[in-house]
Amino acid sequence: MQELTMTRPDDWHLHLRDGAAMADVLPYTARQFARAIVMPNLKPPVTTTAAAQAYRQRILDALPAGLDFEPLMTLYLTDNTSPEEIRRAKASGIVHGVKLYPAGATTNSDSGVTSLARCAAALQAMQDVDLPLLIHGEVTHQHVDVFDREKFFIDEQLIPLRRQFPDLRVVFEHITTKEAAQYVSSAEGRIGATITAHHLLYNRTRLFTDAEGRTGMRPHFYCLPVLKRETHRQALLTAATSGSPRFFLGTDSAPHPKGEKESACGCAGCFTAASAIEMYAMAFEEAGALDKLEAFASHHGPDFYGLPRNAGRVRLRRAEWRLPAEIKFGATSLVPLGAGELLPWTLAA
Ligand code: DOR
Ligand code: ZN
Repeated sequence: MQELTMTRPDDWHLHLRDGAAMADVLPYTARQFARAIVMPNLKPPVTTTAAAQAYRQRILDALPAGLDFEPLMTLYLTDNTSPEEIRRAKASGIVHGVKLYPAGATTNSDSGVTSLARCAAALQAMQDVDLPLLIHGEVTHQHVDVFDREKFFIDEQLIPLRRQFPDLRVVFEHITTKEAAQYVSSAEGRIGATITAHHLLYNRTRLFTDAEGRTGMRPHFYCLPVLKRETHRQALLTAATSGSPRFFLGTDSAPHPKGEKESACGCAGCFTAASAIEMYAMAFEEAGALDKLEAFASHHGPDFYGLPRNAGRVRLRRAEWRLPAEIKFGATSLVPLGAGELLPWTLAA
């Protein structure tokens, strides 16, 4: 196949940050995607509808003329989120989900949830008004191996939560394991999952080697949940290309300044917004399933969120291009995932 035309895709999990840095990364997403679910883990986090409205306006103000893009906002769940705030969020029409970060699980999650029991009233309100819960699904116990934290979350937190709130719509975000893929495929009720391009393309060996196998730590491949072993990547590829409407595109593109990634305590997050749909095309082609890309990237997400599919179309051409080494990021710069590498597919302008 030399060319692929499809419905314009959306990104159902994205970090845009704020201020000048946000203005620098936003055009990369808006060029590719018609809409994106915008994560609320700013400093301080977006915990109220009023804050989400103001953040949304800052994003729209930063959007270059001629780009057509709609930010879909989220709230950051805390132990203190009230049922009234959930109702306000739903009534606003601009908030499309509430994000659960277990406290301490990842970047800017310090104000996250310390115990789901403390959120019962907010979760009940979300179930009542049908506002989806978007979950970073990892336990945070120090004694649980970092590579096992997603698997443990399913039994320890997710299954009991869904038993308590069986009608709550849930997105298991950026799944990384065969256990998560299997759970989402077979669970009862209304559950979906996003899958990143990097978890479809890379396994954990890539954290410690380059594409040719030369050793050395590669901090730009570090994200949370961390890349897993090859068997998990294969299970994710199978899920993404299965045609199941429960799996959809969410890049988790998460920009950080170069110096904060290339550091003794490097931040978690991979920036993929500049090459996202091309990376997904690479992964789907590897699985011999390019014909399944459109449904995953452009149909399953809006169907799950109860939004219309996009009317516009995009075209991917088989034509190589090289990812830049660095991208301006406010007062600093960032290194995109796969910087300097060749990509076989190009999104036509
Ligand atoms: O790798 C990650 N980066 N995982 C997350 O959950 C958060 C994100 C970020 O905000 O940088
Ligand atoms: Zn994320």
